[in-house]
Amino acid sequence: MEYSAVARRAAPASRILAAALACKALDEDDTAALIYDLDGLDARLEAARAAFVPGTLHAVAVKAMPMPAVLSRLVARGAGLEAASLPELHLALAAGCEPSRIVFDSPAKTVPELRQALSLGVHLNADNFQELARLDALVDAPSSAATIGLRVNPQVGLGQIADTSVAGEFSKFGEPVEKRREIIEAYVARPWLTGLHMHVGSQGCPLALFTRGARILLDLRRDIDAACGGARITRVDIGGGLPVSYREGESEPTMREYGAALARDCPELFDGSLAVFTEFGRWMFAGQGFAASRVEYVKEQPGHRTAVIHLGADMFLRTCYVPGTWHHDLAAAGPDGALKAGAENPWHVAGPLCFSGDFLARSRPLPDVAPGDFILILDAGAYTFAMWSRYNSRQMPKVLGVSGGRFVTLKERERVEDVVAFWR
Ligand code: LLP
Repeated sequence: MEYSAVARRAAPASRILAAALACKALDEDDTAALIYDLDGLDARLEAARAAFVPGTLHAVAVKAMPMPAVLSRLVARGAGLEAASLPELHLALAAGCEPSRIVFDSPAKTVPELRQALSLGVHLNADNFQELARLDALVDAPSSAATIGLRVNPQVGLGQIADTSVAGEFSKFGEPVEKRREIIEAYVARPWLTGLHMHVGSQGCPLALFTRGARILLDLRRDIDAACGGARITRVDIGGGLPVSYREGESEPTMREYGAALARDCPELFDGSLAVFTEFGRWMFAGQGFAASRVEYVKEQPGHRTAVIHLGADMFLRTCYVPGTWHHDLAAAGPDGALKAGAENPWHVAGPLCFSGDFLARSRPLPDVAPGDFILILDAGAYTFAMWSRYNSRQMPKVLGVSGGRFVTLKERERVEDVVAFWR
């Protein structure tokens, strides 16, 4: 891909960085930062709402971006939240989310966690039959707003990335739909079991995989309702997974297209007969955040130009460990944040960690950079900060948000004493 095209794509990030530097929202001590376009985030939520029927609970996946300061903005605008662990559930509460708008998914819920979730009144998705058996002993009356569902693996196949595909023949998540008879029996035996849940995969899955999964779930709902002698299933949770494009020149399906495909193949999701839940994470956040790091050193060796920066496998774990799969477009900016132009050369962009694979890119065409310049890392809003690694005990960078041209600090840069306290 031509650098000039990547630079065009990086222009909004460069403008935001320049403004943040000019107003001192970032100072000299900020060797790196993560910056969210909060208006862009609002627009994403709006697009999700427009693509589904009114009343759909868009339970945004906390795992993609767990900061309450970001989540609360979405909650205030009508989003729910999906939690994959007990602490994520508490992050959702900290973001101001009503329990009745929180979905609790985890494949390893303990009995105390189940008890707490039930007493809070969140929507719970059991992962398996054993979890349902535990719930038998905990559920007395369907008193609270809590609903309980079962996660089913629709077994529609894998997407392009095996590690983030969870609807193959085998998956560690959910009960496979091939156990149809046992699944139906589980519902017949439990009047309180009223939800159905699936998640097909995250990134790398084509739309058809999601719509086929949802179709399978709805056919199962029909059979469960028939076996239970009435409309037992009252909510269907179709999970998240809508992919985003991380590369200039690569298109991504729109939420509108996804909604239209679902409306065609799964009209029951749009006829008002069911509560519909979604769990989007990456699609919501990835493109709304970019990271910027100052170039600390530039090293030259025959055939190698390396920029050493302040973010690597600490924040971009998968890019550094599985570089073929997890790409980020990079751009170079000057000390004032303005995009650099001029001679391009193949540059290695190395992180700061004691790990020889700590590279965000190798031989990437970039304008020449010098110490004090910036590297912009695009599409850094999902599963980056969230997957922060404490290896080498680097300080987490400051997180800024920008809305209507004004900057807010969403999270201060970690202090050295915070890191020391973490390890104590
Ligand atoms: N719901 C469930 C049950 C999930 O497991 C996930 C993602 C989501 C929703 C949100 O999926 P999304 O819309 O964000 O694609 N560590 C990986 C990401 C794993 C995502 C796992 N589950 C990474 O390196 O990006």
